[in-house]
Amino acid sequence: MEFLSSVLLLCISLSIISLYLLLRTSRHRNLRLPPGNLGLPFIGETLQLISAYKTENPEPFIDERVNRFGPIFTTHVFGEPTVFSSDPETNRFILQNEGKLFECSYPSSISNLLGKHSLLLMKGNLHKRMHSLTMSFANSSIIRDHLLDDIDRLIRLNLESWTDRVLLMEEAKKITFELAVKQLMSFDPGEWTESLRKEYVLLIEGFFTVPLPLFSTTYRRAIKARTKVAEALGLIVKQRRKESEEGDGKKDMLAALLAGDDGFSDEQIVDFLLALLVAGYETTSTIMTLAVKFLTETPLALDQLKEEHDQIRAEKKDSLEVLEWNDYKSMPFTQCVVNETLRLANIISGVFRRAMTDIHIKGYTIPKGWKVFASFRAVHLDHEHFKDARTFNPWRWQNNSGGTTNVFTPFGGGPRLCPGYELARVELSVFLHRLVTQFSWVPAEEDKLVFFPTTRTQKRYPINVKRRTMYGEAM
Ligand code: HEM
Repeated sequence: MEFLSSVLLLCISLSIISLYLLLRTSRHRNLRLPPGNLGLPFIGETLQLISAYKTENPEPFIDERVNRFGPIFTTHVFGEPTVFSSDPETNRFILQNEGKLFECSYPSSISNLLGKHSLLLMKGNLHKRMHSLTMSFANSSIIRDHLLDDIDRLIRLNLESWTDRVLLMEEAKKITFELAVKQLMSFDPGEWTESLRKEYVLLIEGFFTVPLPLFSTTYRRAIKARTKVAEALGLIVKQRRKESEEGDGKKDMLAALLAGDDGFSDEQIVDFLLALLVAGYETTSTIMTLAVKFLTETPLALDQLKEEHDQIRAEKKDSLEVLEWNDYKSMPFTQCVVNETLRLANIISGVFRRAMTDIHIKGYTIPKGWKVFASFRAVHLDHEHFKDARTFNPWRWQNNSGGTTNVFTPFGGGPRLCPGYELARVELSVFLHRLVTQFSWVPAEEDKLVFFPTTRTQKRYPINVKRRTMYGEAM
């Protein structure tokens, strides 16, 4: 209830601002806007969008509009007129022109909670430098030489504690958070990490509410949680700054930030770390859960995946022996499963940008200051680009026949390409390896996918697990 009234309030206040801007510039009448429907006064089509995305099948919302208006259309959601693109060429144009014609645009609920020094909000040259620093912290050779061992070990340890019934989404979140804390600041899991994670959960809840503390207890809680997270990270940064002056020799992201030529303040480093912890947390854990859901519903694919991983394990002494980079590189079917899960249920369904100037594209004009939404999901689920697009079919990716990079963009593209794209793939592959070689499972209850406010299953995907012996089912 609080959520819906928050959305309404947000829409109304944003609408008043955008209406004012629209009236101020009558020139819009002379522009050829993409066709579409602005819906009701103030709330536009927001409620239709929310009710569609709260179901297992949100596609009709987009399908109806694409059928009526074409792949680029105008709508009015979350308080602003917005140009929606389900056209791969236009999406590519939007991504590639980041910082030139378009700039990223997050609602203030998200930007206030992330902090102004987070990579997601940085712009210009500083963004360029910090983006490439982040990319270099998570590239293939760093993963191979430094991160893979910990990824395998922490996932194995987490799975060792599983018995009977497991809430998969919760377990996956715990795993991805522990991995991120280890990778960013070399902390092993323990009480500190778990209490930090609890604050993170509250912080992230604040992203999807109206950023007015007076009206929303969720937002008030999120601000408090942000303060606690920033304090906890601030203490670590202080301590590590002291240690690095004495030459502590650590090789994590925090070390790279402390050693950088830019001379970052503690506050800047805290914002930066805080956002990195957010960026990899929900995304990777959701994709882990959904891969398992789709595999459970597609037994042939699960059998083929098990075979691939049993073969890798059969070459090893026992389940304790670590996975090597070569093992990761010999998981072709796993990569098909990863791609197919990202295609079908990408948690980042697209990206919002704001036009920095009037932009002419495909015969239309997107006016300066307008919002655009480049929808990856609409392209990924378009039958023109993927045969039988709404079915989970990992085999479509065999022999690289699944689609081209232009139409498959789960990690975005251009200057804001996700710096964690390889890391996420490795984490998911190792998770699947440990899961299928150690357990068999069945869903404990029926659970449904929903897509609003984020992609997730309604009940956090409860499963009953049974431990496997190395080459068969457990007693
Ligand atoms: C399945 C997992 C993941 C998915 C689907 C995903 C997807 C994305 C997408 C689509 C973007 C582009 C946003 C934009 O253009 O505005 C992005 C940005 C970003 N991702 Fe990921 N991501 C995942 C995992 C990770 C991980 C593990 C990390 C940790 C390093 C990470 C860190 C980031 C950061 C810092 C950005 C912002 C980049 C910038 O604005 O320059 N992501 N991600």
